[in-house]
Amino acid sequence: MKVNGNTVLITGGATGIGLALAESFLKLGNEVIICGRREKRLLEAQKNHPNLYIKNCDVSSEEGRKSLFIWVTENFNNLNILINNAGIQRAIDFKDGIKGLEGENEIKINLEALVYLSALFIPFLESKQESAIINISSGLAITPLAVFPIYCATKAGVHTFTQCLRYQLSKTSIKVFEVLPPIVETELNMEYREKRGTGNKGIKADKCAAAIIKGLANDDFEIVNPALENLKTATLADLNKLFGKMNGQW
Ligand SMILES: NC(=O)c1ccc[n+]([C@@H]2O[C@H](COP(=O)([O-])OP(=O)(O)OC[C@H]3O[C@@H](n4cnc5c(N)ncnc54)[C@H](OP(=O)(O)O)[C@@H]3O)[C@@H](O)[C@H]2O)c1
Repeated sequence: MKVNGNTVLITGGATGIGLALAESFLKLGNEVIICGRREKRLLEAQKNHPNLYIKNCDVSSEEGRKSLFIWVTENFNNLNILINNAGIQRAIDFKDGIKGLEGENEIKINLEALVYLSALFIPFLESKQESAIINISSGLAITPLAVFPIYCATKAGVHTFTQCLRYQLSKTSIKVFEVLPPIVETELNMEYREKRGTGNKGIKADKCAAAIIKGLANDDFEIVNPALENLKTATLADLNKLFGKMNGQW
């Protein structure tokens, strides 16, 4: 996939991995649009990168997705890359029962939004000579951390959905990529990370973005950080062993 001369929409692009990707794409000569719920963060990003286009939008609502789709396609007819990056992560203890599920809905933000945005944009992207959908899942899609049960389930859903989408779109102009980042230093679930002292244990977001750009340029459809490369060849038994090891630490 060529990584210059594209028009790219990044959901959740005002912070973290999304912002690092926006910066990388801008540097390479692409037109970049980002969206998110906090206008302040969008404006901050635009202040640092005046050629960045911003749109205030909540992708977890049908109305938000539809108005994003209409605005983007009316104003950026050359749009050819959709990056489904917006996401949240929550520690949820099911011993708390239904109360533990109160608050932000990971299923709507991490999975439902990605599925419906893909469906909305596919006919538009299909009309372009070369286009792509890039879904950000996680290494936790393959081996979960039990403390984040819904997060991991949504990312496993993103993994499976992306495989199916890649197959269904294989004879179209749309390439379908999945990115499975390792731990990256961002604001994701920052409160929890700070409490656990794991806030700065990951790779930097710009390093993650560089690996993603390299993967796209090489048509590597499942972009995995070298630290997680063994996930590609692991057996179910290996993954179950890894699950025990990872969760024993918590
Ligand atoms: N950091 C890691 O260790 C790691 C590892 C693997 C995968 N990932 C994945 O990478 C992606 C980016 O996360 P990040 O680490 O860069 O964290 P982040 O800095 O918190 O970025 C998440 C972005 O998503 C946006 N967002 C959340 N809900 C939204 C909604 N309903 N509508 C629109 N935008 C929304 C947030 O902006 P607003 O709150 O302003 O809307 C924020 O800009 C996520 O999908 C995450 O699961 C992260």
